[in-house]
Amino acid sequence: MEETKTLAATDAGILQAANLLRSGRLVAFPTETVYGLGGDARQDETVARIFAAKGRPRFNPLIVHVPSLAAAERVAVFDARARAVATAFWPGPLTLVLPQRSGAGLSPLVTADLPTVAVRVPAHPVARALLEAFGGPLAAPSANPSGRVSPTRAAHVLAGLSGQIAAVLDGGACVVGVESTILGLDGDSPRLLRPGGLPLEALEAALGQQVTSGGSAAKPNAPGQLASHYAPAAAVRLNAHAAETGEILVGFGPVRGDLTLSAAGDLVEAAAALFHLLREADALAGPGGRIAFAPVPETGLGRAINDRLRRAAAPRP
Ligand code: TXA
Ligand code: MG
Repeated sequence: MEETKTLAATDAGILQAANLLRSGRLVAFPTETVYGLGGDARQDETVARIFAAKGRPRFNPLIVHVPSLAAAERVAVFDARARAVATAFWPGPLTLVLPQRSGAGLSPLVTADLPTVAVRVPAHPVARALLEAFGGPLAAPSANPSGRVSPTRAAHVLAGLSGQIAAVLDGGACVVGVESTILGLDGDSPRLLRPGGLPLEALEAALGQQVTSGGSAAKPNAPGQLASHYAPAAAVRLNAHAAETGEILVGFGPVRGDLTLSAAGDLVEAAAALFHLLREADALAGPGGRIAFAPVPETGLGRAINDRLRRAAAPRP
């Protein structure tokens, strides 16, 4: 155990965080999607500590965060299609899975020995400043214990990882609220590996083609792709129009609940609120409690919201 510091997102705090990272320590930092658990992607021991702190299976590769497309091209091989998508959406909530560049210098633990690498340029000003100050690639999964709800505030990070990491940079609440969309561009046709903060419709419009869903069965599955994930302590029921006895109801649009994702039925507002509300509902439901969620439309950010809710509701291992 170590004492986890909370650092303010000031120039001094960011510098201190960069120094901790340079000495191989782990620092959680805000991105526009969720908080990431950052460590130097080039140091084996640091990357191993990320897996240990999260209790994450080693076969599940991490996303590499870089400050720019130029820096991304140093770790991954971009074709014209990848460059076009990156130019359209970076910085932002999009992760690209691409062939890894040989000699990229990444720890093989980051990619779980796959020939590909997941890379992203986050838009959050604190993440960008930290990447600039650190000056290298940061491996950063979501800053939560594996299988639990992702953090969208510094307090969520501390609730799950206090004592396991050197520091958390407090950048307030994340504006997008669900993890990045993961697009596989390592084969002939683009594949949606995880719906997320960038709507599928926007990706398809930029690519000028449909994007098929799902990873290849040959590849090891990631926790983010496992059935049960994002699990609160309470049991979760979906597509509820009213609460059953003893349930905490989380509403959306016309369905009024004890809590609401968005009374106006706004998917952007709902995504931003999702993980915080899962935690609040969990606390209200109490031990052995039950949470019900109102239906959310399967369009735009609704796809990512429903994906997370289905995993939260899935039978636990
Ligand atoms: O928004 C986000 O993406 C956040 C913030 C912190 O950037 N990060 C995040 O990381 O969600 P994580 O580790 O919780 O999810 C990473 C996902 C996993 O589902 C993993 O399987 C997938 O990325 N992934 C990483 N490398 C991959 C690869 N080479 N091929 C296929 N999937 C990969
Ligand atoms: Mg995660």
